[in-house]
Amino acid sequence: MKKIIITGALGQIGSELTMKLRELYGKDNVVATDIREPKDSKVVTDGIFEQLDVTDADRMKALVEKYEVDTFIHLAALLSAVAEAKPKLAWDLNMGGLLNALEIAREHNLKFFTPSSIGAFGPETPKDQTPQVTIQRPTTMYGVTKVSGELLGDYYFQKFGVDTRSVRFPGLISHETLPGGGTTDYAVDIYFEALKNNAYTSFIGKGTYMDMMYMSDAVDLIIQLMEAPSEQLKCRNAYNVSAMSVAPEDIEREIQKHLPEFKLTYEVDPVRQAIAESWPNAIDTSAAQEEWGFSPQFDLEKMTNDMLQQLNNKEI
Ligand code: SER
Repeated sequence: MKKIIITGALGQIGSELTMKLRELYGKDNVVATDIREPKDSKVVTDGIFEQLDVTDADRMKALVEKYEVDTFIHLAALLSAVAEAKPKLAWDLNMGGLLNALEIAREHNLKFFTPSSIGAFGPETPKDQTPQVTIQRPTTMYGVTKVSGELLGDYYFQKFGVDTRSVRFPGLISHETLPGGGTTDYAVDIYFEALKNNAYTSFIGKGTYMDMMYMSDAVDLIIQLMEAPSEQLKCRNAYNVSAMSVAPEDIEREIQKHLPEFKLTYEVDPVRQAIAESWPNAIDTSAAQEEWGFSPQFDLEKMTNDMLQQLNNKEI
């Protein structure tokens, strides 16, 4: 990667990835884009920023040509719960944006990354130690777009030789930017509410296990995967990645080590609970470990320490 364009740069992943890429590759070599342009965001003020709606292929192409990028990181997409509420919009945005980006990557021979998700699995997928290659019949529109994205990535690689790479992200936990409308968002909200109110009401039920990862590991692994030699990559689109499999009460126990009075209650949202139950409990990440050395640094304990410390410093 030498010169990189990012879509969805103000999103949960984009906001942290953009800052890290600027640090590593230089401010002039990272072109951050998003549909919004808030003047108070560091992503907008601290480097190159261009407004871009990913359904506008002409503008996307013009920006790729203007900055002569060699790498495309396509993050703009709707998350699972929002996509379930607006399925047609989710298809148009997630698939329309991805196809525009892949076409431009083909025309300009760009290295390409876009995230898939544990949402690409469904109720018939084995729940534990979910294999890299397995049944993928998701029952959400989000999942449908993610499986389609994985297939398109493979298609553009095999048919046109585009160097596509992807991972199936689990729930990502971050303190910089909140996720917008995902099923795993409870695992972020719980930390903010623990510090503010010493209490949290979870919309995901007790005993519901899902894979999770701390954002710093997610950012590092994108860079690691993108810098891995192409010939090492067999699975490409998309690798299972995860750092922990947790249920709400596991996070509760960890938080209570720091805030003994913290209280977790439940008010289950049937829509997001059904989505969670259609996803795996714990996926097998051995292909990512073997093919490009995936090795997350944060388990639940370490992540909880860091989250609470970071949020304390911010005085939310
Ligand atoms: N965090 C995402 C969601 O819940 C999963 O990829 O939608």
